[in-house]
Amino acid sequence: MENNLVDAVNKVDQAFLFIFGVSFAILFLITAVTIWFLFRYSKKRNPVPSDIEGNVIAETLWTVIPTILVFAMFWFGWTGYKALREAPADSMIVKVEARMWSWKFIYEDGRTSDKLYVPENTPVKLDMTSVDVIHSFYVPAFRIKMDTVPGMQTYAWFNSGEASQYDILCAEYCGTRHAYMLSKVVVVPKEEFIKWVETGEADSEKPGGLLVLEKHGCLDCHSMDGSEIVGPSFRDMYGRNVTVLENGRELTVKTDREYLKKAIKDPAAQIVKGYEDMMPPADEMTAEELETVIEFFEGGMVMEKKGAKGAKIAENEGCLGCHSTDGSEIVGPSFKNMIDRKLTAEHMGKKVEVTADIRYIIDSIKNPDDYVVDGYDGGMMPSYDLSDEDMKALIEFFSTLKDE
Ligand code: CUA
Repeated sequence: MENNLVDAVNKVDQAFLFIFGVSFAILFLITAVTIWFLFRYSKKRNPVPSDIEGNVIAETLWTVIPTILVFAMFWFGWTGYKALREAPADSMIVKVEARMWSWKFIYEDGRTSDKLYVPENTPVKLDMTSVDVIHSFYVPAFRIKMDTVPGMQTYAWFNSGEASQYDILCAEYCGTRHAYMLSKVVVVPKEEFIKWVETGEADSEKPGGLLVLEKHGCLDCHSMDGSEIVGPSFRDMYGRNVTVLENGRELTVKTDREYLKKAIKDPAAQIVKGYEDMMPPADEMTAEELETVIEFFEGGMVMEKKGAKGAKIAENEGCLGCHSTDGSEIVGPSFKNMIDRKLTAEHMGKKVEVTADIRYIIDSIKNPDDYVVDGYDGGMMPSYDLSDEDMKALIEFFSTLKDE
């Protein structure tokens, strides 16, 4: 960790340890003296109480020593406070928006995330606010805790230190899901952070719809596994009949595309029976994001990114050793834009024009030398007898490598 972080963290710890140490010493002294007095001045040992008029030395000491201690506490507290409040001028700025019951981090380029991704060894200043009630942004590892207040800007800063992850908690009671208002500070190497900013690489394993749900904090109130949180679970939600209340009237509606769009954009219009009207409309969700989410529900919430299974097969079977996925040439033709590519190939000793449709691709995987594409050598690729399911997954993977 860099010096100024260590500085702030150490100063907070010093203030704590100093106050704790002094308090402990005083507790110990008072207890010891009390016990000694009980013993020494009991009726048996001291039958006639002595009347003490005053003691200048004792009075001076018990005035001066505590005064010094209190000033020392103030000094430790003050320097620690200053270190926590003075963000370096070159700090990276991230906006923080708290809401019931999630954190949203907004970067300078407009990118948002529900986790606080930051590069290593970088001072980070958080400009914070809340869109509903008072929350409190708390990262114990960085010794920072700052209220987020609706209609007001507050700030905190920390130095990210080395690559690691730290807990973010809400430290101000804010309703039903207060205890679950958790997130993470994810400190990554600088190169990885740049990559994340440019491509969202850190979340590349997840399907787009899930990322949108996470980004807008939907999962804080709606579970994916059927359990009840605050709103209805997303599991098996699509294509059902539900009873809703519209202007006080009960009606049955089908949870199709149109219904879901409305439920996301204007949740108060129809409230599912048994639930309360407490969801904020997803005003910040773009039309594109909304579409991605609906597709995610419609497709049965497949938690794997499209083509992920096929990509794994291609890797495990060793295909990627000879076929690239980015259009570059290795040994065989690239998988990029392979589907429906027009080819000239040698087939049974003759040159033929073929289209690499799905049937051709499956045939080429099973019998690679049936067609040998012009410019490549035959007899190089072993034949693969994959199951229909694996074949399907591979084709799906290839289809994700196609430019629009
Ligand atoms: Cu937000 Cu407690």
